[in-house]
Amino acid sequence: MKIRKTLLLLVLAVVFSIVLAACGNSSPSTESSSAAGEEPGTAETNTNGGNILIAYFSHTGNTEEVAGQIADLTGGTLAEIQRAEEYGDLQEEAEAEILEGVHPEITVSVDNVEDYDTIFVGYPIWWDEAPAMIATFLAENDFSGKTIIPFCTSASDDIDNSLHIFSELCPDAEIAEGLTANDLNDIEPWIQEIGNLLT
Ligand SMILES: Cc1cc2nc3c(=O)[nH]c(=O)nc-3n(C[C@H](O)[C@H](O)[C@H](O)COP(=O)(O)O)c2cc1C
Repeated sequence: MKIRKTLLLLVLAVVFSIVLAACGNSSPSTESSSAAGEEPGTAETNTNGGNILIAYFSHTGNTEEVAGQIADLTGGTLAEIQRAEEYGDLQEEAEAEILEGVHPEITVSVDNVEDYDTIFVGYPIWWDEAPAMIATFLAENDFSGKTIIPFCTSASDDIDNSLHIFSELCPDAEIAEGLTANDLNDIEPWIQEIGNLLT
């Protein structure tokens, strides 16, 4: 009889701890957390990674590489932004879109973008501006009260001239100082510097 009672208590304890563990996980549901891809020797900054999204558009892979490093350092989730339709003539069409303020249709690899409170937004500099897909991303999500952290890669221009769309399209978001990430060595010190925005 005593053994039965002990067994019953044991089973109840196991069930209770499983229920507790399931309730404790309150981070936004994610498609892919990149913390597993952390490089050896790369220290993850002490962040609330469950609440950080790293959204990026990349045409030839440079910005994607930077986004991956930011994900490794912060434990955030990667979200790739793509143009729904490929350009016919990139040089002509992409510049016209930027100049005319067109918002082309995009796809984003994560669908719960608005569940995140801190959103890195990365892109290559095109004609000293952000590609029009970034304008679409900023316009089609409500980032009021959220923190947006821009970053870019480029051949030589820095991020400054491209930043105006963030305050124009997300007037109620906090826009952090951005990084021109052409030197991969600049990423980790920058993440440390802005660490207070990530906890
Ligand atoms: C259409 C186009 C326009 C570009 N315009 C600029 C520019 O105005 N200034 C600059 O420094 N680099 C410019 N670049 C270079 C890219 O910003 C640079 O190669 C960037 O790292 C590419 O990133 P990605 O590999 O993520 O696409 C341009 C590249 C392309 C394809």
